[in-house]
Amino acid sequence: MAQEESRHIFVNAGPIAHFSTGDLSKPLVGLDMSSDEQIHPTGWGFVIESGRFCAISPTEEILSEFGQNSVIHDLSGRAIIPGFVDAHTHLLWDGDRSKEMRMRQQGMTYAEIAAAGGGIRYTVAQTRGSDKLLEIGQSRMQTAVGHGTTSIEVKSGYGLDTESELKLLQLYSDLQQESDQLRMSLTWMGAHDIPHGLKRSEYVEQILSEQLPAVIDQGIATSADVFCEPGWFTLEDTEEICKEAKRAGLSIRLHVDEFANGEGLELAAELGAVTADHAIHSSDDARAYAAEAGTLQGFLPGTPYVMGSEHWPPIQQCIDEEWPWTLATDFNPNCQSLSIPMTGSLVAHRLKIDPIAALAAVTRNPATAFETKSDCVQGAITEGAIANFSQLKSESIESWCQSPGHSPILKTWLY
Ligand code: NIG
Ligand code: FE
Repeated sequence: MAQEESRHIFVNAGPIAHFSTGDLSKPLVGLDMSSDEQIHPTGWGFVIESGRFCAISPTEEILSEFGQNSVIHDLSGRAIIPGFVDAHTHLLWDGDRSKEMRMRQQGMTYAEIAAAGGGIRYTVAQTRGSDKLLEIGQSRMQTAVGHGTTSIEVKSGYGLDTESELKLLQLYSDLQQESDQLRMSLTWMGAHDIPHGLKRSEYVEQILSEQLPAVIDQGIATSADVFCEPGWFTLEDTEEICKEAKRAGLSIRLHVDEFANGEGLELAAELGAVTADHAIHSSDDARAYAAEAGTLQGFLPGTPYVMGSEHWPPIQQCIDEEWPWTLATDFNPNCQSLSIPMTGSLVAHRLKIDPIAALAAVTRNPATAFETKSDCVQGAITEGAIANFSQLKSESIESWCQSPGHSPILKTWLY
């Protein structure tokens, strides 16, 4: 629930994962992601005024300085973490692709399922004809908040023509207006697939001459994304679309190297993309280049999980090499989880990634590349940052990603 404007103080917290060291506009890398320095010890508290954290210190200091004229909340020793920033979702679509599970189990690949009439284009047909998108969006936003997400990146891409893409972006904007909860970052992804009836080159031409200019005119999206992958959009298509989008002021987020190394990560770095996501099959050189260029590697472990793939992202290597990385759900018709704790569980339980590093990858790190119309610090518990946080059920921060199928969160506070 959004909180009213008076001063609120929160005392007797368990450990607080604050992730506030160094330059907050930069992601944490390497061992800094999991260092003890990122955690205040048990017994601290904080003050919230006008929706921002304005003091964080031991409980006695908070009470003696701010105890008067404040609403006091006792956190009863439970661990505190920043609100999650889910930086990659395809939130809005209609239809059901559950049938594809059996097709995958019979050995069909993602591309083969798409060629057989499933995949993105199936969802496009269902979405274009839907009159339930607003309710669907509202319900999914509730689900995300219920799992501790307080900021969410949302992509269009199930329209694939100018009118339908504009409609999806408008719906996101309406959802954002009516929500006093989730903060949204809106990405146009007209280049998600090639619509039925058009050749790839014809659709790219349509995007450049008609769809992208209309999206810019509409003025809702702040980023552009392309499915840059062998079999979908080529490096040349991606470059052309992104250069135009950048010229018009959009930041670039990309889908790259999900099923094969198509050198999408190199291109993302070259284009100055803020994030290049999936990046499963990218080369080490491309990863180093992305790090140098300031492009995040956005890992989406829910995707190999639902596909039954054993190609997991090389997260430990990113930690060892001090390359910046993030985690997100990639919620889509094929990967229907809006639970960031589930995403954390996948990398902590399956890849042995430190749970505190994984937590930095869903809070501070994605917040550094979260484009909204209003700039503000999020993803950290520090003076001046938006006061979005969750109180865990446990007294241990590590519990945040250790209850797959159940929420580890007692309560999420949103401002
Ligand atoms: O990020 N790979 C492209 N887009 C989505 C999947 C979309 C779909 O299958 O509908 C992804 O995994
Ligand atoms: Fe995606």
